[in-house]
Amino acid sequence: MMQTIRQASSLTGTVSLPADKSISHRSALLSALGEGTSRIYNFPTSADPQSTLECVRALGISAGRTDEGVLEVEGQGLDELRPPDEPLDCGNSGTTMRLLAGIMAGQRFGSVLTGDASLRQRPMERIADPLQAMGARVELREGCAPIRIRGTQSGLKPIEYRLPMASAQVKSCVLLAGLYATGRTVVIEPTPCRDHTERMLGLKVEELGGERHLIVDSGHTVPATTWTVPGDFSGASFFLVAGSIVPNSELQLNDVGLNPSRTALLDVLDGMGADITIENERVLGAEPVGDITVRTAALSGVDVGGRLIPNLIDEIPVLSVAAACAEGRTEIRDAEELRVKETDRLHAMAQNLRALGVEVQEREDGLTIEGNGPNLLGGSVKSFDDHRIAMSMGVAGLVAHGATTITDAECARVSFPDFWTELHRLASV
Ligand code: S3P
Repeated sequence: MMQTIRQASSLTGTVSLPADKSISHRSALLSALGEGTSRIYNFPTSADPQSTLECVRALGISAGRTDEGVLEVEGQGLDELRPPDEPLDCGNSGTTMRLLAGIMAGQRFGSVLTGDASLRQRPMERIADPLQAMGARVELREGCAPIRIRGTQSGLKPIEYRLPMASAQVKSCVLLAGLYATGRTVVIEPTPCRDHTERMLGLKVEELGGERHLIVDSGHTVPATTWTVPGDFSGASFFLVAGSIVPNSELQLNDVGLNPSRTALLDVLDGMGADITIENERVLGAEPVGDITVRTAALSGVDVGGRLIPNLIDEIPVLSVAAACAEGRTEIRDAEELRVKETDRLHAMAQNLRALGVEVQEREDGLTIEGNGPNLLGGSVKSFDDHRIAMSMGVAGLVAHGATTITDAECARVSFPDFWTELHRLASV
């Protein structure tokens, strides 16, 4: 499906956001391992969390919506999953594959995890290495999925594992495998990344020598519980940027997840001169949430790198759109992880922004973007079948002169099924 976006004169109203993707995956997986029926409020219809839900069902867990739309998952405890009849299909979802692999490594039965063409090209040694160190038998095909995991009869060995990259998926994989280890598993995190798994599992966290140590002891069980998934901050980020760069705009975003390990974009946009206010901050289950208002503002270029990067890793594509519309130069550094996402996001954004007349230099670990103020030109760009690239270019299209077309734009459904409807509804041309 091709989307055509026209230059907007304003963007106003209240954005209807999907539920947080990261928290949704974890709520489904932890509910499946829970002892009894868990209820998940606001579980989304986005394709990635649905992939996790389908995998959970393929493992013999029954899960269905009540008339009120609440997802009920009949957890059976850690050791009562059933062998799947077929390979577990993780679709486009790296989180599904990497977290589920940690759980599968602890099972008595074997399994195969696979996914779509994009997911089958993403690096999986990063999880195979620690799982093998725990004694799991994990085989990859040329470093990638399909992942074959043989069952274990004796449980896993506990390890102390220092994360070689700031990846919440790797961290979570090892922590979930740790539930099946005989002893104490410790994951050491030199650079903090999103912390939903440790929050939701209620793990012990120690701060030692400037590093976080996350601890799972054998015998850690997962109680059945009620989860309420907040609005997705990463989904909100498209509208935070759009509301900033489109003239005469004011957008309201309610019940948005504001976990500090996710919200570095707020600090960066603040440094660029954005007009964003947060009200009604509160805690929903294990997670902070709040209501955000964004209004049009003149942005200036910024330097972003270092420890901030993992806390805005998924927001960098749309940040590069903000940079393209800002006054002056923006440098994004230390973001090489973007090359192994659903597509190579540094390359995709560089190519797409150039197609709209922006001067962009692509480096191994980032981008240098010369802000073009209000002078973006409409043009034809590609989604690269990556939801965040498609939506970022949708935001750019709102300020580009004339029309911007985005090919294969339906991939937005991976995290934000109503994105295009919302964008057209809120924009006045
Ligand atoms: C996620 C972690 C991040 C992020 C992804 C979701 C998670 O990936 O990019 O969208 O839910 O744990 P990495 O762990 O590969 O950085």
